[in-house]
Amino acid sequence: MTRVFSGMQPSGAPHLGNYLGAWVNWLALQETADETIYCVVDLHAITSPVEHDPASLRRRTVELATAMLAIGIDPVRSTLFVQSHVTEHAECTWLLNCVTSFGELRKQPQFKEKSEGREFVSVGLFDYPVLQAADILLYHADEVPVGEDQRHHIELARNLGQRFNHRYGEVFTLPKAVHPPAAARVMDLQDPARRMSKSSTAEKGIVYVLDEPKRVEKKIKSAVTDSDPDARILHDRDAKPGVSNLLEILSAVTGRPVADLIAEHDGNGYGGFKTAVAEAVVERLRPIRDRYDELAADPAEVERILADGAARARAIAGPTLERAREAMGLLAPRA
Ligand code: TYM
Repeated sequence: MTRVFSGMQPSGAPHLGNYLGAWVNWLALQETADETIYCVVDLHAITSPVEHDPASLRRRTVELATAMLAIGIDPVRSTLFVQSHVTEHAECTWLLNCVTSFGELRKQPQFKEKSEGREFVSVGLFDYPVLQAADILLYHADEVPVGEDQRHHIELARNLGQRFNHRYGEVFTLPKAVHPPAAARVMDLQDPARRMSKSSTAEKGIVYVLDEPKRVEKKIKSAVTDSDPDARILHDRDAKPGVSNLLEILSAVTGRPVADLIAEHDGNGYGGFKTAVAEAVVERLRPIRDRYDELAADPAEVERILADGAARARAIAGPTLERAREAMGLLAPRA
């Protein structure tokens, strides 16, 4: 039996990197895995004060869940819920904190990236990967569909699960990350040396899943390429990061191998190539936008789906946490 778990933060509007790096595999696994569990990770979204705005967090949580439904997450086949509704996540984090070393968190690349130059760095931000490990381990997830940037976090979850099992007995299943063949790391369209990210300030470089078609087209057509006089369309992340990024996006959106796309587009210049990428992305996102508008008209229904999802999630997370508590020797309360 294969069980899948993944999550996304409600810290900004979802973008093409989230969609191609993670969501496409969430959908594929919904078809093939035995059980799929997807989560809006609101507790992660409060770890950095810059991104956390209480007034918008509630709205964004519902919006992100709505977007997940709009891309095709089926709340009957998949369990869809909000992390903070299942309090086992926070409690399991504490247990895992006690098998995590300070050193292994300090060297996490995302912590370094997010904390550097910041005046206030919360303990929550430091502990972020342990909460993520709890998310995954509570559900005995075998596979975790994520973008390339999450690789270290999934490795840590695996290590913590293994260490816990070794010290206290077999409780947790050891997960592995699942990345898409292309676009596991979608880069910013204006700065192809940087990952497309919700926390980026330049909106021009980010295609949002719910952007109007005209905006998507404009952003892709003005993507930074390079000054190659021959305008070669080749995949070389070092020498041609902008073109390589567009090739990967096109490959992911059309399902065609990069080599085929090069054969078709090399020699036609950057303008025509970008138009082809823009058209393919617009067509892929159009039905999602339409479906989002329908679903957003009934937020109460989305909240009902999330309540049902939380109950289903708790039914798995509760017994796992109980086993972990017992394995660690915590006295069970008298019934
Ligand atoms: P988050 O919310 O930043 O991103 C959600 C998913 O989108 C992927 N992603 C990308 N993929 C390709 N190219 C990009 N430019 C790009 N930007 C983002 C991310 O890899 C991720 O899969 N810590 C996680 C959320 C999380 C989680 C979990 C994930 C919390 N608990 C348990 C899996 C399992 C995060 O910040 O993702």
